[in-house]
Amino acid sequence: MKAAIVGVSGAVGQEFLRVLGERNFPVDELVLFGSARSAGRVYTFRDKQYTVKELKHNDDFKGIDIAFVSAGAGTSLEFAETITKHGTVMIDNSSAFRMYDDVPLVVPEVNAEDALNRPRGIIANPNCTTIQMVVALKAIEKVSHIKRVHVSTYQAASGAGASAMAELTKQYEQLLKGEAPTIEKFAWQLAYNLIPQVDVFTENGYTKEEMKMYHETRKIMHSDIEVSATCIRVPVMRAHSETTWVETERPVSVEEARQAFSAAEGVILQDNPAAKDYPMPLFVAGKDPVYVGRIRKDLANPNGLTFWTVSDQIKKGAALNAVQIAEYLLTVNGLDVTQKS
Ligand SMILES: NC(=O)c1ccc[n+]([C@@H]2O[C@H](COP(=O)([O-])OP(=O)(O)OC[C@H]3O[C@@H](n4cnc5c(N)ncnc54)[C@H](OP(=O)(O)O)[C@@H]3O)[C@@H](O)[C@H]2O)c1
Repeated sequence: MKAAIVGVSGAVGQEFLRVLGERNFPVDELVLFGSARSAGRVYTFRDKQYTVKELKHNDDFKGIDIAFVSAGAGTSLEFAETITKHGTVMIDNSSAFRMYDDVPLVVPEVNAEDALNRPRGIIANPNCTTIQMVVALKAIEKVSHIKRVHVSTYQAASGAGASAMAELTKQYEQLLKGEAPTIEKFAWQLAYNLIPQVDVFTENGYTKEEMKMYHETRKIMHSDIEVSATCIRVPVMRAHSETTWVETERPVSVEEARQAFSAAEGVILQDNPAAKDYPMPLFVAGKDPVYVGRIRKDLANPNGLTFWTVSDQIKKGAALNAVQIAEYLLTVNGLDVTQKS
């Protein structure tokens, strides 16, 4: 198995190195790529050192079975042909191809088999906020069809990349010294604040991030589900949180929901409010599952249920989900792709 990581210096790229190691993914050979900025840097994987190559339009991907790509949508669009032309399976973390009809959008706990139909050789990893939500929704959908969802997200700084994490730390340091904070990655100062804007606004007043939750959820769940989202950036370093209100075809009791979440793949039920036991990002950072708690009946809707989820968006929301897709491909039929030359 020859694998590549494109964008290895980034927040998600670094997580790929950790997750591939942690899960004992069967990599015999690893090739690391970045832009000219990180080319030449050396990273260690399983006690071996690897030097980052500059991503270029050439034949570097010949012989590579699978490429984990996390270098932004522009890079994915520009290099998809270069990456896939010799049959490499590209698992893309960017938004570039997610809504293409001929590109599957996959969360293994929900629609793993979609990954088997990939005419372009590309499989898209969904948006990180959507991934944790659909893992939880899948549990409820098994009990009763979900008609609509309202969701409010509380998104960590690291969702905007490695430099955004550095900016948040720097803002706290600057403010404590009485200096003006540096504001480059976010619209406003994030330290001691929250910002009701993730990504840019679209014509209907929702942000792109919020519209991704609408469209991607429908595609992954193969459902007419409607999703109305409000996405908030909060000064948490890592792991996104979400409050979700679902409306089901028939009322679902709290007990039914608890059972469904307890049985669901990839979900940990953590719901003992009397003992102040509920998921929080500080403690979920670095973990694999989607944690669910605060399950209640919706007081404003007899068919409504509300709950709270927290999941590490660099892990389950990005690198881990992509590696799980690759693991699924390996278990089903190896990495054979039709266009492999
Ligand atoms: N952070 C998250 O929680 C998260 C979650 C889900 C999905 N994603 C998606 O994953 C992607 C990466 O996000 P990130 O948070 O890891 O960002 P990041 O920390 O800013 O890292 C970006 C990476 O892309 C590389 N890159 C940029 N331009 C390149 C080019 N022309 N050729 C090769 N490499 C290039 C950078 O390499 P250099 O250092 O060499 O420039 C760097 O390794 C984005 O599409 C993002 O939307 C992120």
